[in-house]
Amino acid sequence: MSKLAQRAAELRRLLDHHNYQYYVEDKPEISDKEFDRLLKELEELEAAHPELATPDSPTRRVGGQPIDGFKTVHHRIPMLSIGKAFSADELREFDGRVRKALGKQPVEYVVELKIDGVAVSLTYTDGLLTLGATRGSGKAGDDITENLKTVRGVPLRLHTDAPPKSFEARGEVYMSKADFARLNEEVAARGEERYANPRNLSSGSLKQLDSRLTAKRRLRLFSYSVGSLEGTTLRTHLEALALLREYGFPVNPEIRSFDSIDEVIAYCDSWSEKRFDLPYETDGMVIKVNDFEQQRRLGATNKEPRWATAYKFEAEQAITTIREIKVEVGKYGELTPVAHFDPPVQLCGTTVSRATLHNAAQIEQKDIRVGDSVIVVKRGEIIPHVEQSLPEARNGKEKVFQFSKKCPACGAATAREPAAPTPSCTNTAACPAQLQGRLESFAKRERMNIEGLGEAIAEQLVEAKLVETVADIYRLKLDQLVALDRMGKKSAQNLLDEIEKSKTCGLARLLAGLSIYGVGETMATLLAEAFPSIDLLLAATKDELAGIKGFGPKRAESIYTFFHSPAGERMVSDLRAAGVKLTEDVKAKPTVGPLVGKTVVATGVLKNYSRKDIEDVVVRHGGKAAGSVSKKTDYVVAGEDAGSKLDKARQLGVPVLTEQEFARLIGAS
Ligand code: IVH
Repeated sequence: MSKLAQRAAELRRLLDHHNYQYYVEDKPEISDKEFDRLLKELEELEAAHPELATPDSPTRRVGGQPIDGFKTVHHRIPMLSIGKAFSADELREFDGRVRKALGKQPVEYVVELKIDGVAVSLTYTDGLLTLGATRGSGKAGDDITENLKTVRGVPLRLHTDAPPKSFEARGEVYMSKADFARLNEEVAARGEERYANPRNLSSGSLKQLDSRLTAKRRLRLFSYSVGSLEGTTLRTHLEALALLREYGFPVNPEIRSFDSIDEVIAYCDSWSEKRFDLPYETDGMVIKVNDFEQQRRLGATNKEPRWATAYKFEAEQAITTIREIKVEVGKYGELTPVAHFDPPVQLCGTTVSRATLHNAAQIEQKDIRVGDSVIVVKRGEIIPHVEQSLPEARNGKEKVFQFSKKCPACGAATAREPAAPTPSCTNTAACPAQLQGRLESFAKRERMNIEGLGEAIAEQLVEAKLVETVADIYRLKLDQLVALDRMGKKSAQNLLDEIEKSKTCGLARLLAGLSIYGVGETMATLLAEAFPSIDLLLAATKDELAGIKGFGPKRAESIYTFFHSPAGERMVSDLRAAGVKLTEDVKAKPTVGPLVGKTVVATGVLKNYSRKDIEDVVVRHGGKAAGSVSKKTDYVVAGEDAGSKLDKARQLGVPVLTEQEFARLIGAS
């Protein structure tokens, strides 16, 4: 091995070790700064000498090229959901059913914290992480391998010299309370809307098409089961957990086992308050029969196993009255009713004085009236929410809430479409509340990223009539900003600099920022990929728009109408005049090389590449990765256990390469 290769291997070993100490053992040995230094050294080494990069290198955790969409993965063994018990009595009933089915046998229960995150499946082939998937419907989920590689506790390679041919670990991806708070602080500091709770943020992060964004979210993992037991000698759940630990997975330290349901209940109860001190969120406990043979005998219904149950902690709740329902106007004009409480209530340690009632339909369905006593709960421990009204507490003075026929912000008429959950303000062009919502949305970090243009400034800009559309911000002058409340010369200049900088964000972010109904970040990215300049987009027909993957006629109609309305046309010409970039850069592809213009199919189990890796390599070398073999296929790369695709290639006379031959072809070995 060359000196450089030795150093790369040493760096990988060190980084893996420290990652493990931090995310699995929770005992960091070096500072974050020192860790980042080592990582940077390895990144630079691999960048300068790509042949030194390996598929399980810790540098892979920073994310890779964005993808178009997620492939569907069928779970070999379904990812079941779990029955729920809401009280000690219901836990005793569960125990009764278990013991009845098992006759007089002794039963051992394993009790775990129920981590409030997102369930995932991780498959390792010959010890290397080859597939990561969401639970999805339980039968099939999304292939989110690249995103899961960025989750620090996920081992990229099993810690064993003798890995099983195939191994599936399951677990919960979550975000720590501290990381969630930090991310939310950053968001709030920019004057943007906070995220609802860590679970939603984790789930959203795992569904990013760009894994580099996932990497920034610092997600973590607790593994809690082995998917397939085939070929293992595991006899109990505790043995499975021990194996997971041995293989390098983080396993929650609070797991205990008990012989009686009374001990189980006592352990569950011991967490009902203590859980608020944990660095991550939990929403209950999971109780599992330890013995796999007993689990097998108990079996499962088509939804959930009979050998496990979840004991749900009660969400903290309080009773108060609704003094008033105020109506807020969103960026699309939608009217959102917000309940104001009298008195404010204490929930999970915070004072709650208001909660959204979401829309008119929810108020009608729950029959919530002004003056009603209501039960307020904190869902996911963060977002307060009106669970129900208490009609038995009414005294006759309560009032059924009616939306005014006029917009509370601009006085224009409101209307409710037959299928809409709530009325909307019809004054799209001039309602100040809608405009303020659109400005805030335009400036968001993931859109035009204009730091400093948050709620307060947006409100002032609208009130001072300095802007009438989002494009008007590019006309703002220093003296106009300085004249605003609490705006010094320095912050005004900073804001102008930020606005100037935003001009180069590119078409995808711009489209996401325009508040076009049905076009958020993901759709905007797809739209800009299909039409990488505004002129191409303007020339697109409705059918062409509807043909983009995941779009359909409704979204197409909304986009088409937006750009072909007088307001949309003016918006485009104003943005153009301001010098805002109206194109999206298409990533440059090589024009010479052995794979340029070639179609490659990978099949079978490969040693050094996951399927996704090989697809990435092919695309990076200017080729196309395909899923099935045809006459148009130029090469098939076949690993072990290759089946029908290999047969087809031979039949059609398509050249078949081994993994080594492929590596040689692209000059990687
Ligand atoms: S066991 C058949 N253990 O709760 C039982 N689930 O299952 C399979 N969850 O979304 C799940 N912590 O992701 C199990 N310690 C734990 C868990 C846990 C959280 C989640 C799981 C699933 C839900 C219901």
